[in-house]
Amino acid sequence: MARRTVVLNNRGGVGKSDVTLRLGAALAKRGRRVGLLDFDPQGNLSRRAGWIYDESQPQVTVSEAVQADRVGALAQVWTPVAWNVEYASRMKLAPAWLELENRYAEAGLAGAHLRLAKAMQGADDDLDHVLIDCPPSLFHLTQMAMAAGDGVLLVTRAEMDSVLGAKRCRNFIFDKRAALHADDLGIDGVVVNDYEQGKPRQRAQLASVRRIFGDLVWDPLIARREVIANAANDYVPLEAATGSQLTQAVAGFELLADTYEKRISA
Ligand SMILES: Nc1ncnc2c1ncn2[C@@H]1O[C@H](COP(=O)(O)OP(=O)(O)OP(=O)(O)O)[C@@H](O)[C@H]1O
Ligand SMILES: [Mg+2]
Repeated sequence: MARRTVVLNNRGGVGKSDVTLRLGAALAKRGRRVGLLDFDPQGNLSRRAGWIYDESQPQVTVSEAVQADRVGALAQVWTPVAWNVEYASRMKLAPAWLELENRYAEAGLAGAHLRLAKAMQGADDDLDHVLIDCPPSLFHLTQMAMAAGDGVLLVTRAEMDSVLGAKRCRNFIFDKRAALHADDLGIDGVVVNDYEQGKPRQRAQLASVRRIFGDLVWDPLIARREVIANAANDYVPLEAATGSQLTQAVAGFELLADTYEKRISA
């Protein structure tokens, strides 16, 4: 069974989807079999991994797997990541698009928050890691992800609203995990993303992230680099992106993958 990590912040735009994608790619480079599960109706992770929803040829996505409310339904959803790099052969995507919004309306159905866990049961046995990218919300989709997950990775910027968003997630998990049948769910770590070196305000905010989350803050920080945004825009692997400081950006995520594997096995 795969190790399932829920990538989360209640604040939007902090880099959850980029960290999910690039961390997943770096784990695949280390030889791991990685599932990227897009659980955000925006579908940004899916698009950045090169997937496009084609209305003329409807595809089964995570939305249908959740709606089916059937054990293992996600098995039909995994699709290859069609990047032209060797390590992509060890990556699979469970894509999402706007249709996933319709699952919110079913939040009141009995046991609805367990539907993702049910869909994933037996459907990720051939993977080492599944990373679940959540919307910037703590409502039903995120609650389903929490009920399915083994641990939570918070992503934040060194900026007040993101730090408060990460704190809200932590408090929410501790308050609600029993009700979500996720009693053992804990926070694996906090990734500080989009960090701007040499800016006093960023340094001050980073200090407050460390004060709040202590040892949970992972090394390395992920710096703000244009090449990371370019890769997302052009839906290419980071190695194929245009822009300066590519080597540093790639190395940053490789180090993050190293930290990830050390921390989750600790
Ligand atoms: N380290 C970085 N350097 C430069 N740009 C970045 C970095 N991390 C993320 N970005 C860019 O910032 C924007 C927001 O990132 P992203 O969409 O990954 O955030 P998110 O938390 O998933 O957002 P949402 O809450 O909408 O799902 C994107 O354009 C992304 O490519
Ligand atoms: Mg996102």
